[in-house]
Amino acid sequence: MLALSKLFPNLNFLGVDYVDRWLRKGTLPEEKQIQPNLAFLRAESLNFVTTCRDENVAAFYVQFPDPWPKRRHRRRRVFESRFLDELYRVLSPNGFLHVATDDHDYFTAMRAVIAASEISWRSVRESVNQRLVHPALKTLYEAKFSAMGKDIHYLEMRK
Ligand SMILES: C[S@@+](CC[C@H](N)C(=O)[O-])C[C@H]1O[C@@H](n2cnc3c(N)ncnc32)[C@H](O)[C@@H]1O
Repeated sequence: MLALSKLFPNLNFLGVDYVDRWLRKGTLPEEKQIQPNLAFLRAESLNFVTTCRDENVAAFYVQFPDPWPKRRHRRRRVFESRFLDELYRVLSPNGFLHVATDDHDYFTAMRAVIAASEISWRSVRESVNQRLVHPALKTLYEAKFSAMGKDIHYLEMRK
């Protein structure tokens, strides 16, 4: 988020996570300088997006959402049909949703959610190990998983 906010100083960015620790990392003063166009919010993603107005956000980045691999925890996964519907509602026309995960099973489940949805995206692209937007950037987990040699799955859906 910091890198994006520096690349696009005329756009506003909001980083959302429900764990304080991650938000505090983003607000460290020195090498991670605070950008005037960047803010952080501690919130649950679905709750947050339901509070947003229609067609009001140019892009969403859902980056390495927790895969909750144990079957009994699956219902905690954020990438579900209601979340997708809400993201679509809030995206502005021609806005995009970019998703990244290192978890193949979660990726398959995401594709199933997209396929089962009634949303008609202008385009849907996917790739392995090739970031579809801002290819030079990496999130913390993206760097970590790439260094481990894990395959990373990307999706980009445009409204
Ligand atoms: C694997 S980490 C990825 C962190 C960062 N996005 C990155 O790519 O480096 C997953 C993060 O998602 C957050 N998270 C998981 N489910 C969430 C939800 N429903 N709402 C908000 N944050 C969530 C967790 O607190 C955790 O910080």
